[in-house]
Amino acid sequence: MTDTTLTETAAGIADLTLEEKASLTSGGSFWTTKPIERAGIPAIMLTDGPHGLRKQAGASDHLGLAESVPATCFPPAVGLGSSWDAELAERVGAALGVESAIENVAVLLGPGVNIKRSPLCGRNFEYFSEDPIVSGVLGAAVVRGIQSKGVGSSLKHFAANNQENDRMRSSSDVDERPLREIYLRGFQRVVEGAQPWTVMCAYNRINGVYASEDPWLLTKVLRDEWGFDGLVVSDWGAVNERIPSVSAGMDLEMPSSGGHTDVELVAAVQDGSLDESVVDTAAGRVLDLIRKSQAGAGSISGPLDVDAHHALAREAAGRAIVLLKNDGDLLPLRSQRSVALIGAFVDQPRFQGAGSSMINPTRVDQVALEIVAKAGEDFVFQAPGFTLNGSGDAAELRADAVALAAQKDVAVVFLGLPAAAESEGYDRDHIDLPEVQLELLDAVLEVNPNTVVMLSNGSVVALPFRDRVPAIVEGWLLGQAGGGAIADVLYGDVNPSGKLTETIPVRLQDTSAFLAFGGTDGHVRYGEGIFVGYRWFDARDLEVAFPFGHGLSYTTFAYADAAASVTANGDIDVRVTVTNTGDRDGREVVQVYTSLPGSSVQRPVRELKAFASVALAARESREVVLPVRRQDLAYWSVRAQRWVVEGGSYVVDVAASSRDLRGSATIEVEGDAVSLPLTRESSMGEVLAHPVAGPIVQHAMAGMADMLDGAVSIMPEGVDMMKMMDSFPIGRIGMMAGEGFSPEMVDQLLAMANASQPQA
Ligand code: BGC
Repeated sequence: MTDTTLTETAAGIADLTLEEKASLTSGGSFWTTKPIERAGIPAIMLTDGPHGLRKQAGASDHLGLAESVPATCFPPAVGLGSSWDAELAERVGAALGVESAIENVAVLLGPGVNIKRSPLCGRNFEYFSEDPIVSGVLGAAVVRGIQSKGVGSSLKHFAANNQENDRMRSSSDVDERPLREIYLRGFQRVVEGAQPWTVMCAYNRINGVYASEDPWLLTKVLRDEWGFDGLVVSDWGAVNERIPSVSAGMDLEMPSSGGHTDVELVAAVQDGSLDESVVDTAAGRVLDLIRKSQAGAGSISGPLDVDAHHALAREAAGRAIVLLKNDGDLLPLRSQRSVALIGAFVDQPRFQGAGSSMINPTRVDQVALEIVAKAGEDFVFQAPGFTLNGSGDAAELRADAVALAAQKDVAVVFLGLPAAAESEGYDRDHIDLPEVQLELLDAVLEVNPNTVVMLSNGSVVALPFRDRVPAIVEGWLLGQAGGGAIADVLYGDVNPSGKLTETIPVRLQDTSAFLAFGGTDGHVRYGEGIFVGYRWFDARDLEVAFPFGHGLSYTTFAYADAAASVTANGDIDVRVTVTNTGDRDGREVVQVYTSLPGSSVQRPVRELKAFASVALAARESREVVLPVRRQDLAYWSVRAQRWVVEGGSYVVDVAASSRDLRGSATIEVEGDAVSLPLTRESSMGEVLAHPVAGPIVQHAMAGMADMLDGAVSIMPEGVDMMKMMDSFPIGRIGMMAGEGFSPEMVDQLLAMANASQPQA
């Protein structure tokens, strides 16, 4: 960064030379843009992200190798997302904004809202969900929070970046409908609802085209359709060819190319192959970004309130923990009863994932100390049970841990994925916990039935022991205050309220991308279409270990009086009365799913449309209103090339999870008027359904009656001739009707029909 600030008198695009404009559109260093001191234009810093600030003071790299300034490590998206709480996510975003502002960072590189297509993606811990509404709502909240402090966010990785394998070349081959409905929907929600200052284009290709070179993605969809008016920055090293990138709408290449690609830009303008206005546009957006970041610069200064941010990190971590199972109310644990803390994660907590998002935390909670503070010093005992790197004598470690567990009232076994098992840059090839951990758990269970499994993992793991263990707590990756939060939940100072934003499958083989994940020959086919996550498990009616949306509490909730009504603007208000039926204060994540029986298009069994995290005191009852936006009912019509809300009777399920429906209502929704022009390719069915052409064709078909009669006579009884004809293209009707229906007559009919209706 230079000390220069962009002054009122700073030059605009018109005052800059071509070389200066080109220089603005690529990095000056690993993390900064280039200043133009002659023109009073400063450099700004863009840095990681997403769940904390990773500002490198010395050496720079995009994989989190070199050290960075201490910053609060909040729960990564896998944890924050499990809160299903936009208000909390916004507060965390605001804290990220403050830390960035104090460090003079203009743009924090996050949040990531890619869909968790498979549990195998090495970077799932950086993403919120397998569902686009969860990803979009929480992503928008984080963006709002960051930007409320005068710091920009960078929505990433745009788009269809759902695996790490061959991430810088691989093509995500996705049909348009799943691309729109599953993979872009979350991005769209964040862009339209929170206007991030920047969007980061992904490394991968989409349907063969690099995201960084895709005018459809970066200009047509992002800007023309969604109204994005910020800057597109490349993921670090995502630019393949500079000229096609800038032409497609990729404004800022990061990190520095050493100026080489700026020279290419200048040469292309000079030889007439690139219009200078393209460079002006990109450079203008860089200038806008600098102006935005300078507007609030200096208004927030240090020192960082480390304690306050650590407390927020602990609150968020407590809200992220998901209580998967709690038979016999084994949890919460009581103080003054002996507890054996078993597992290497007790002393070596796994609280964030590896790669570019790795934060250098201001401090890290030690769970054992936190538990001592709750249980009492004389009641807490520890045995590692295994090592994370396979060193040591496994049998001896296990025997010691089992001996300890046998003597104590309760055993809490900390299991999880060692850091090396999941990371940015590569994917997993299975979802199993290490064998040594599973063996240890089995041995502990034999000596102590009061066993709690406490999990630390950035993406789902198989839980083959789920029927044998009375209590299972999913702790994901919880950030630097995870130790305190785990103690809070285990001892009931925080009543767990997190829910799963991704399905936990019984087996990897059951997941939708099982056969295609990773790809072949540089292409990965998204053959499951819109059936991702719970949409897949429900459509196939597959058993799951724990369903999407699941999470227990130390209290219980009852749902009553579910109702739905259409509001003046066409949205749907869903109402339900939720009662905390227990003696403990708690929170319930109420979910709304919709379905449309008899839909004209293929649809998932049900899809999440709205949710709310509701705090209810013991015995409190409250009516909760969950607005479902009309646009969220829409499917992407490939034929009409637009979103379409289909009319009909929608079933609205109010639920505690995707498989725990607690109330239902139906609501009539008026559909969008879509009239597609009829062409020779239109089917008989489509023509017959047309208000003008239909009756005419019906009439003409009467003339074909003789021929049809003849045909019917040799057909088996009950065969429906009209059904057979339904998909017959009208342009080829002459083949059947002969002279009776000439091509000219067909064209006249189509022209008349099309003239009768305004086209979509
Ligand atoms: C990652 C981005 C990150 C960037 C800068 C890339 O490798 O994909 O998420 O923001 O590096 O570190």
